[in-house]
Amino acid sequence: MSERPDNTTPHEAAARGPLLLSTWSFGERANAAAWPDFSAGGSALDAVEAVTVFCDEDPGIDSVGYGGLPDRDGDMSLDGCVMLSPEQCGSVCAVRKHLHPVRIARLVMDRTPHVMLAGEGADEFASAHGLPEQPLLSPEAKKAWQVRQAQGGGDSSDVRPVDGDPDGALFKDQEDRWRNNHDTIGVLGLDDQGRLAGACSTSGMPWKVPGRVGDSPIIGHGLYVDPHGGAAVATGTGELVMAICGSFLAVEQMRSGAMPQDAIREVLERIASRSDLQANHQVALIAIRPDGHWSSGALRPGFRLAFSDGSGHHTMDPAFVQLPGT
Ligand code: GLY
Repeated sequence: MSERPDNTTPHEAAARGPLLLSTWSFGERANAAAWPDFSAGGSALDAVEAVTVFCDEDPGIDSVGYGGLPDRDGDMSLDGCVMLSPEQCGSVCAVRKHLHPVRIARLVMDRTPHVMLAGEGADEFASAHGLPEQPLLSPEAKKAWQVRQAQGGGDSSDVRPVDGDPDGALFKDQEDRWRNNHDTIGVLGLDDQGRLAGACSTSGMPWKVPGRVGDSPIIGHGLYVDPHGGAAVATGTGELVMAICGSFLAVEQMRSGAMPQDAIREVLERIASRSDLQANHQVALIAIRPDGHWSSGALRPGFRLAFSDGSGHHTMDPAFVQLPGT
């Protein structure tokens, strides 16, 4: 991880593209992989797709693509979406045979009158458009599932949804666990022509009930982009985000004039006020206005984000934590 070379708070400053903002520290190396083409004048749309594709292929990320943890029965399913505007968005969920949900989602956006394809239909659509079928379950993820089975199995209702270590053997305490655990890759891009784009890719909650779909592929929940309002992306416990249309809510706040930090705070306040909030729940958002002001916030400690601009690639803490010390 590279620290920002000075103590400025880029959250508060208007930025000019090219700029990439990605969830979690693994976003830094994904941003870096996408950067050469993006900084040479590539579009925000191509850049956000490239960031997610990089994460899909990294077997070390246990919540996205190959390397992601499977559902309760040991089967993989992937979700993702991409968005430029309310008129230009695409999504797929419960994909079982193809590795790159955002690539399929972009085809849905570009080549169909639809927004979302699910399950078998999404896989058939991907094959029909020339995308290769690939194994999605890595040997490490299979082993993790087998270990869990040996310990009694079950679905994810008893573990932190973004947790790849339900028994707590890897981390010294809860914060360490959050800090080292990861969830959805969500990425926002602002290119040198001032165009915003966003994308999400995830294998969803580990050990999920088969068929479960979270916020990531649902336009307005895990991701929303409106050239007139801004863009927001969420990560964490999808069910909490889905209950309040989290990304759409953040963008609507910005459309009404809110700064990104205030928009995110409104979303997190609504989540924090839930009567059924659990200690293992986490949600974080990144938001950016069309003028380049951006920010990030998390419900609990442990979230980090990656940003890339002309100064390099950086991993940093969010601007604020709604429930510090929890
Ligand atoms: N945020 C990812 C999920 O809940 O599936």
